[in-house]
Amino acid sequence: MRSLQSLQQRFAEKLTASPHLGVVLLDQDAHLVEISQMACKVLGINRAEVMGKHIDQAFAGIPEDNRLVQRELLAGVKVHNQAISWTNSNQRYELLVDSNTLHNDEGECIGAYVLFKDITNLRSFEQKIERSDRLAMIGQIAAGTAHEIRNPLTSIKGFLQMFLKSFTESGMERERSYTEIMLTEINRINALVSEFLLLSKPRDVQYSLVDLNTVFAEILPIVESQALLHGIEVQYLAGDLPLVVGDTELLKQVFLNICKNGLEAMGKEGVLSIDHHVEADSDRISINIHDNGPGIPLYVIDKIFDPFFTTKDEGTGLGLSVCQKIVHDIGGQIRISSKGYGTTFHILLPYL
Ligand SMILES: Nc1ncnc2c1ncn2[C@@H]1O[C@H](COP(=O)(O)OP(=O)(O)OP(=O)(O)O)[C@@H](O)[C@H]1O
Ligand SMILES: [Mg+2]
Repeated sequence: MRSLQSLQQRFAEKLTASPHLGVVLLDQDAHLVEISQMACKVLGINRAEVMGKHIDQAFAGIPEDNRLVQRELLAGVKVHNQAISWTNSNQRYELLVDSNTLHNDEGECIGAYVLFKDITNLRSFEQKIERSDRLAMIGQIAAGTAHEIRNPLTSIKGFLQMFLKSFTESGMERERSYTEIMLTEINRINALVSEFLLLSKPRDVQYSLVDLNTVFAEILPIVESQALLHGIEVQYLAGDLPLVVGDTELLKQVFLNICKNGLEAMGKEGVLSIDHHVEADSDRISINIHDNGPGIPLYVIDKIFDPFFTTKDEGTGLGLSVCQKIVHDIGGQIRISSKGYGTTFHILLPYL
């Protein structure tokens, strides 16, 4: 009997010490009898400060409706395998929660427990699969239609260029300017179709050794001229950058797209800064592009890499999904930090 008791005790100790399981145990008056380290970490509280306290006191900083541990628990509100998103002050978690009441032999409620597992990695894995499914679908549509769109565009463009020439020669200013507008619009459609083609798989990617210093030397004038138009300052602090393996043109596109997003986010004033650091204990370099725009709200951040997700009137929403594909294809990753104000895109690339 005694060894059984100590086995049960050991088991309880093991569960509360587990870094993978959140355990919260309440008595019938909603005082915290036990709370595991993992639960404290996720809830953003200090174990020593909350042990023995009433939950209203222990979680006073969190609005009542948003609490993970609620008083209704003791009234018998059960939860089983409920997936919830939880954000403490510095991290976001996806949790799978179970909770229930505990009763004595007479059937009276003597407390309640909440157990949860951190399934953030699992969820992001699921989301990655969803995203690659969607990209594959778009790829198929793109491959099937891009040529069909491009061919007629090429002949329309050719004729318009002829018109432009004749109108210019015969001094028909109004017709000339209209034709010019039509040509600009056609170029826009062409650019869009090219982005589609990039999202679809088969394409001649020219992998070679890329000097990132040259890449930036070539795109900075473009970024700076855009910035100047809007009174934005560009600070280039990236210094001496290493070599990476990739496609020069595609990498230019990645940095240009992300800089453009930064400029668009800031609008009329601000500072776009570009620097780099080498990731601790990894062989990747991180190019950091920071803007001091309004930041990206949490409910938007999950979607920004989705094809066609945009919050802009004139946006296609393809910019970041194309960037992500280009970076993933060379073994890199794009990370974002955006906390309420300002955004940094970290473009991590394996370097030589
Ligand atoms: N630096 C940033 N600050 C704030 N929001 C951003 C930033 N970068 C991206 N976003 C958000 O992510 C969305 C998607 O960006 P993405 O580049 O994919 O498309 P877009 O910029 O809207 O359109 P396009 O790039 O085709 O012009 C944007 O609409 C915007 O809401
Ligand atoms: Mg964009």
